[in-house]
Amino acid sequence: MTVPLPIVAPSILAADFARLADEVRAIEGAADWVHVDVMDNHFVPNLTIGLPVVQSLRAATRLPFDVHLMIEDPRRWAPGYADAGAYNVTFHAEACDDPVALAKELRSAGAKAGLAIDRDTPIEPYLDLLPSFDTLLIMTIKAGFGGQRFIPHLLDKVRTARHHVDAGHLELRIEVDGGIAADTIAEAAEAGADAFVAGTAVFGADDPAEAVRRLRSLARCAAPRA
Ligand code: DX5
Ligand code: ZN
Repeated sequence: MTVPLPIVAPSILAADFARLADEVRAIEGAADWVHVDVMDNHFVPNLTIGLPVVQSLRAATRLPFDVHLMIEDPRRWAPGYADAGAYNVTFHAEACDDPVALAKELRSAGAKAGLAIDRDTPIEPYLDLLPSFDTLLIMTIKAGFGGQRFIPHLLDKVRTARHHVDAGHLELRIEVDGGIAADTIAEAAEAGADAFVAGTAVFGADDPAEAVRRLRSLARCAAPRA
């Protein structure tokens, strides 16, 4: 079995929004995806950007968009992000009563479909839905704000998911989001994550592109070998 290379997806939440296009271009060539956090001040208390900004940003970079919707009513809004050219559109399990139907819609709109699990949500009820998804995003903080401290015990969900994915030979990325940095990425990779969102650790660094390369190499060294 070949172990897929770890994906590093810098989160724009820690970027300078007034220079967003430049900030994103600075990680082209280093990052695999750019992680776009959409928050609606309802599902989470914070508010960020919506579809018009994502559409404009889409035209400014070649990097694939990993859109993380922290919004209520994702069935209403998520397909618009797929239509806007997002590579992957992730919505929260807690916000959707029929995740499989929405995943199908996203896939037929040409995007990958992602399911996100927040801090206080168990993973077990969702394991059987995973064949309908391309990415599973396990929060390693409570969704809503960047710059929070990584919560190590949430990696138990990553271990459970990794076991299920490998046993079922599923083609699915297991992504972690929240507090991922040089001192936490190795344990997340050991637990079985193979896609890593990092905001502060990338855009808070003096050299964001170099920070991405360093994170990927730390994840790669720590990844379990088949
Ligand atoms: C928070 C967002 C994260 C956030 C991560 O709810 O989903 O993507 O930007 O930021 P850091 O890496 O700073 O924890
Ligand atoms: Zn996110």
